[in-house]
Amino acid sequence: MRVIHSVTELRAALRGEPETAFVPTMGNLHAGHIALATQAKQAGRPVVASIFVNPLQFGAGEDFERYPRTLAADCEKLAAVGTDLVFAPGAAEMYPEPQTFQVVPPLAGELCGAQRPGHFQGVATVVLKLFNIVQPRYAVFGKKDYQQLHILKGLVRQFNLPIEIVDGETVRAEDGLALSSRNGYLSPAERAEAPRLYATLQQAAAKLMAGEPDFDAIEAEAGTELARHGWAVDYVSIRSQATLLPPATGETALVILAAARLGGTRLIDNLELALNRV
Ligand code: PAF
Repeated sequence: MRVIHSVTELRAALRGEPETAFVPTMGNLHAGHIALATQAKQAGRPVVASIFVNPLQFGAGEDFERYPRTLAADCEKLAAVGTDLVFAPGAAEMYPEPQTFQVVPPLAGELCGAQRPGHFQGVATVVLKLFNIVQPRYAVFGKKDYQQLHILKGLVRQFNLPIEIVDGETVRAEDGLALSSRNGYLSPAERAEAPRLYATLQQAAAKLMAGEPDFDAIEAEAGTELARHGWAVDYVSIRSQATLLPPATGETALVILAAARLGGTRLIDNLELALNRV
């Protein structure tokens, strides 16, 4: 497996490869990322992973500085599942000049975007740049970052990028906690509490499946349940899978999304469901 740090060298290495499969990451890889790299191998070859902690998507006071940089260990894990190439640029290579273009839809200001202004602008910018550098045919993103996945699919569609976005299922620990690089920030007590986020989504889904019609009440009850156990809740929201907006009347393909903080750690999760309406 080659590890490349410069755009010029990467372009030379990938010239004439029409079926490249790409997994963008910020490193500190866990089993969820490795599942994405494994999935990429089924989509196309060569498989390229990028490792870049993107300063543009972190707000003031967020964890950019303390975000773990674990390049050697990440490369070992990627090599073990047959990744062909790792692109690990430095910040000056990715951003030789300030980024000034705005590339996000209004949805970028909702849900996680409401709490993290500029976050999705930073994500969309770096992903668009990485797409132009790598020029993949396929790109794999995890469904845990559901809003990110939705926004990036819109980016590809609306800018006619010749890239197929492949969804990666969320990988969970045995107790249900979605794997995330940020789980490593949790204290042992917080780690024991963390599975409640997904459990609460499951309870909300059960209410929807049982036909409870008041979505606002279901969201509020989920938020209260988390707050009662010490979480600071950013949002619990029932949305349309297709638009990520509040569901239209009669819409059945739904997703419940949540973001909440345990101590200093912000966790997100989501659960898709299909209502059986006749
Ligand atoms: O999901 C992530 O790890 C990041 O947001 C991404 C897509 C690699 C962009 O920096």
